[in-house]
Amino acid sequence: MIVQPSGPPLILVSGGTGYIGSHTCVCLQQAGFGVLVGDNVTNSSEGVLSAIAAISGRRPLFEQADVRDAAAMAAIVDRYRPVAAIHFAGVKSVAESVRDPLKYYDNNVSGSLTLLAAMTRHGSACLVFSSSATVYGEPDTLPLQEGHPLRPESAYGRSKMVVELILADLCTADPDASVVTLRYFNPVGAHPDGGLGESPLGIPENLMPHLGRVASGKAAALSVFGDDYPTPDGTCVRDYVHVMDLAEAHVAAVRLALQCPGVRVINLGTGLGVSVLSLVRAYATACGHPLPYQIVARRAGDVACYYADPERASHLLGWTARRGVSEMCDDSWRFINTPTALGSPG
Ligand code: NAD
Ligand code: UFG
Repeated sequence: MIVQPSGPPLILVSGGTGYIGSHTCVCLQQAGFGVLVGDNVTNSSEGVLSAIAAISGRRPLFEQADVRDAAAMAAIVDRYRPVAAIHFAGVKSVAESVRDPLKYYDNNVSGSLTLLAAMTRHGSACLVFSSSATVYGEPDTLPLQEGHPLRPESAYGRSKMVVELILADLCTADPDASVVTLRYFNPVGAHPDGGLGESPLGIPENLMPHLGRVASGKAAALSVFGDDYPTPDGTCVRDYVHVMDLAEAHVAAVRLALQCPGVRVINLGTGLGVSVLSLVRAYATACGHPLPYQIVARRAGDVACYYADPERASHLLGWTARRGVSEMCDDSWRFINTPTALGSPG
């Protein structure tokens, strides 16, 4: 039975109970799209759907499924006939990918192939894909433009690059196929109402969740990985982008994908570089007390400095990041302190 042949255009959101996916579901629903989440909940929980409903007034459709399960994905597409998919589902730890590369190629590459096969069952694929700025590797020039050479330094980054290449080949073979590949810089923050944020299973390796743990007393001090980089204060510089800005960019990207075929690759960042110590200070302001930190050795594989050229996103999506670092820290801290929020870092 086809569930939704009419009604609002339905978007299949793989990984939709995850961090970026859940915020995007809120924005998609608020923009008038129907949402069908497909997630195997290996790094999230079904409870996120209630948080999405509490904010947007509607609970997305949900299928617990692994994106690598060809029969399950085909059945979902046959049943619901989504007009497009946003493909978040995947694994994302750089360090783990070095230890267990096959897990990364299996989840990220095989999962993408299976989803694409399902999405082409009833016509040409229409897809927005979650890629990462990590595909660039060590930058030759800054800000990073989309045409910069790709030299990812981990299996995670290479798994994203491989999928980007597959998507480009698909669009060459099928002129009606439509793909928007989004290269995220450093997503942080939470929904401003406090009920939705980053709730990974286990202790995350990223800076912002660690700041939250220190601010709330779950960790004694932040370890800052190196202060001898060629940057203004010696700590690494990144382009932190608020997850709500990212979510809004996905609505624009899915509209673009639905409007015109072809492949587009777009950076999603603010264009501003922020050092680790600047983020520590901003978070201390948000939580109202200083955050203890210690300088430790550099973390293997860290690039000193990179940030996006956001011009193409502005041109193609009409999207510019609007939220600054203090809003990112305020919203992250509010999420940690909201009693109804689903989990909090660590
Ligand atoms: P997340 O782990 O919070 O969300 C991913 C979701 O996908 C989870 O709900 C997980 O349960 C689900 N999932 C994983 N493997 C699956 C599978 N095989 N089948 C079905 N569901 C599966 O991660 P996120 O931060 O929301 O990232 C979303 C996407 O964005 C990922 O593809 C990630 O690589 C990419 N990305 C994230 C960042 C970041 O810093 N958060 C940066 C760049 C790119
Ligand atoms: N850092 C610390 N202490 C910590 C954690 C991080 O000093 O406890 C530093 C890192 O050395 C780095 C900066 O904070 O200089 C940011 O580190 P993150 O781990 O938060 O983010 P990365 O830039 O290393 O990578 C993130 C995601 C990748 C994604 C990339 C895209 O983890 O998946 O952004 O730009 F690909």
